[in-house]
Amino acid sequence: MNPVEELNNLREEALRELAGAEELKVLESLRVAFLGKKGKLTTILKSIGKLPQDERKETGALSNKIKKELEACIKEKSSTLKASSLEMKMADERMDITLPQHGSVTGAAHPVNSVLIEICEIFISMGFSMAEGPEVDFEKYNFEMLNFPEDHPARDMQDTFYINNELLLRAHTSTVQIRTMLVQPPPVAIIASGKVYRKDADQTHSPMFHQIEGLMVDRAVTFKDLRGIVRILLDNIFHKDIPIRFRPSFFPFTEPSAEVDIGCTVCNGAGCKMCKDSGWLEIMGCGMVDPNVFDSVGIDPLRFTGLAFGMGVERIAMLKYRIPDIRMLFTNNMRFNLQFRGLR
Ligand code: PHE
Repeated sequence: MNPVEELNNLREEALRELAGAEELKVLESLRVAFLGKKGKLTTILKSIGKLPQDERKETGALSNKIKKELEACIKEKSSTLKASSLEMKMADERMDITLPQHGSVTGAAHPVNSVLIEICEIFISMGFSMAEGPEVDFEKYNFEMLNFPEDHPARDMQDTFYINNELLLRAHTSTVQIRTMLVQPPPVAIIASGKVYRKDADQTHSPMFHQIEGLMVDRAVTFKDLRGIVRILLDNIFHKDIPIRFRPSFFPFTEPSAEVDIGCTVCNGAGCKMCKDSGWLEIMGCGMVDPNVFDSVGIDPLRFTGLAFGMGVERIAMLKYRIPDIRMLFTNNMRFNLQFRGLR
């Protein structure tokens, strides 16, 4: 076979095999077999020098032409193979993002939080502003300046969590009344909310619970104002014209004092287990600021009067949503919590 024939055969063989290569790996081994250092075409190119003078030129030119053709063919084939392998990979890893996911759960505001925010918003709409105080506070702000006598049972270690002689976990948010009046001269109209602590635990009591406190001090604040504020509050939390009664009571820091009852939300006053057959449910404490309290914070009780009230947020949540046991509010049971989804 003359060299030109040999070269043409080689070209055909190479083109045929290249056309059949379906993988980059195969393509590379073909490149080595034909164009590599010891490749078939390279071997022919190397031997051209040994050919007689008159054949050299033609054979040399043909081998170079074939070499370029094969190189171009490999290059093209390699880029098509690369592109199609990427396409295969993408098709293989494709995910359908239009499929609905399963079991997504949206959260719910905790009923205590949602009632707390609701109540705060009612007072803010009446022009009250928010005040705050620490959960660990001085005994003097908790009891002494609120006119609690030295031997009052609430001061007892049995009822209150003491940190030391001076400091305790506040037993009520009334501490914020004192803190506010010490720094802000009348007129005052504030509410304060937060955690309070008492040594108490049963179906309706928890050692930690939340209170909302209110205080209004000005020149002619009266019990009528107190009644009006309480009416607006309870109309908004429960329903318009819910039955309300003010029952005389006692707190060291208010005089006169009252406890507010609402008509039972379960039996509408007919009498049931929830209201212990009385038809009424106790909802908050309130009264007119005691002159002794004004004295302790340096406000003149002859010039100013004040009203104050305090309520337990858990209790209101329980009455509003008919939750029979306060502990349900603290166990973080999702089946319980999720029933309040969408309330706020
Ligand atoms: N501090 C009282 C309590 O914890 C509630 C209260 C607040 C009563 C303000 C009257 C005025 O029970």
